[in-house]
Amino acid sequence: MKALILSGGKGTRLRPLTYTGAKQLVPVANKPILWYGLEAIAAAGIEEIGIIISPETGPEIQAKTGNGERFGVKITYILQEQPLGLAHAVKVAQPFLGDSPFVMYLGDNLIQDSLGQFLQHFQQKSLDALILLRQVSNPSAFGVATVDEQGHVLALVEKPQAPPSNLALVGLYFFAASIHAAIAAIQPSARGELEITDAIQTLLNQGKTVEALELQGWWLDTGKKDDLLEANRIILDSLLRQDKQGQIDETSKIIGRVAIAPSAQIINSTLRGPVIIGENCRIENSFIGPYSSIADEAIIQDADLEHSVILPGAQILGVQQRIVDSVIGQRARLSLAPGQPRALRFLVGDDSQIELV
Ligand code: TTP
Repeated sequence: MKALILSGGKGTRLRPLTYTGAKQLVPVANKPILWYGLEAIAAAGIEEIGIIISPETGPEIQAKTGNGERFGVKITYILQEQPLGLAHAVKVAQPFLGDSPFVMYLGDNLIQDSLGQFLQHFQQKSLDALILLRQVSNPSAFGVATVDEQGHVLALVEKPQAPPSNLALVGLYFFAASIHAAIAAIQPSARGELEITDAIQTLLNQGKTVEALELQGWWLDTGKKDDLLEANRIILDSLLRQDKQGQIDETSKIIGRVAIAPSAQIINSTLRGPVIIGENCRIENSFIGPYSSIADEAIIQDADLEHSVILPGAQILGVQQRIVDSVIGQRARLSLAPGQPRALRFLVGDDSQIELV
């Protein structure tokens, strides 16, 4: 059994963060999204993992994630020159996959359930494909399945205008080698991509065995800002362990579950968990409220924030209005001059969003 993680793509919905970085490396609870999937695959006992990368963000992913040693796996990076679809990514990975069965994991998805139970089902029943489904309120945004009562998949359709069910395809699939012939038989869709749903539909048309299981736990697709904040909230809620290190002065108050890295400094501030603070951060005269992740090297001074994700090296200085539901990019700087501000002065990157509410 091998694994293929898709970590290429354009990430248009998470601009401007994805102009300069890979969306799969955006941290959730101070850990790159991609690493959650890697860890889940490693925990299922799969050791050979291919990661699809794009020319733009591949080098960054490779530098950060390495050869897999830290996860106890062997990683092979596979370059996909253009993001021509999920099935195209499998096609590009065929030399790596050979005729091995494999699990395919979308690198921007987070899945609570462990992979082991699904893997067992796939292997015991010698399926051609096993897909995972989740009920959603907006199926038009996803691949949608129609399933009979035994869990046999009847039909699949990608982002339908009139969804036949509310069962969306989750970004985790198990395939036998027969998927390659199915991919070879499909044509690009109207949006110009080789769709994995079309390849699975081809398996169905060929009479192959395709089953679906419904996911029990949460599933998060972090492709957009609000989904990213939601992922951060759920991960902090469910996985964060109290770990108060760093320099914390006597005037600071740490309430609830808070993790502070050893080199961080907390000065005259209140932290109300769940909150995570990265290495070399300085938090001074500030309030950091629930569901906030502050990445390495960030500086928060005379500020007040909650339910936000702050990326490495960002600075928030003197902003007394509470910052909420925000994602602040790497090295971005928000500052307010002392006294009553008379004007707003910005240098804002393309596709940024600023809401004064
Ligand atoms: P998507 O989120 O569907 O696509 P995207 O990353 O291009 O984002 P957007 O729609 O905002 O432009 O992709 C799901 C995952 O699969 C994501 O981790 C990127 C990856 N991917 C590839 O590796 N190759 C591809 O050809 C495509 C389409 C996606």
